[in-house]
Amino acid sequence: MTVHAPLSAEEERFESIIQNLIDHQLGQQNGFLNRDLVKSLRINLETYFLQNQMHEAGIGKNEQFDKNRLIRGDSIRWIDDVPENPAEKELLEIVQSFVDYLNKTCFTGIDSFEFHYARYDVGSFYKRHRDQFRSDSGRKFSLVFYLNEDWKESYGGQLAVYLPTQTEMVFPVGGRAVFFKADEIDHEVNVATQVRYSIAGWLKKG
Ligand code: OGA
Ligand code: MN
Repeated sequence: MTVHAPLSAEEERFESIIQNLIDHQLGQQNGFLNRDLVKSLRINLETYFLQNQMHEAGIGKNEQFDKNRLIRGDSIRWIDDVPENPAEKELLEIVQSFVDYLNKTCFTGIDSFEFHYARYDVGSFYKRHRDQFRSDSGRKFSLVFYLNEDWKESYGGQLAVYLPTQTEMVFPVGGRAVFFKADEIDHEVNVATQVRYSIAGWLKKG
């Protein structure tokens, strides 16, 4: 008989979002990031924006990189691999623990990740797309965190996730995480009447 140690609160969150993905092709978890961390990350994003350290996002990689505001209107800033900022450090430590848990329980073999801040100004959007580029098949999973305080559904800004049998609407509530397979799931960011903050990233292999 194998005796399993009880899961920690963090492992419970990881387990639940992974099970969600297995059951519904979409993992969702409220309170994945705690309020203090969400607030610190939001302040970072606002500061980067005010200091002109965010830039218009492109589509695709390298030669396919094409600024196209008809497809995507957000401004982004990549998080350093080894950040000095304490909140970014804390975030990447959580992601690393999540990756370790995922690899241990699902044999996924994820060996790196990349995350960027994203700021969607009022009226901006990201049309229906998939996250895995043809030139970069390394992106296995998408993981998005929301940083907004007191988001109301009337603001819009929902992430529409196109699943085979239905479309799920996920509002960008602070602390919430969404998780799905980067090469399978189409999704779209709808316009909002308020500025919308997120951190989007990818778990990669090879
Ligand atoms: C992306 C993306 C979703 C979101 O950056 O590729 O789909 O809700 N972001 O911010
Ligand atoms: Mn996307």
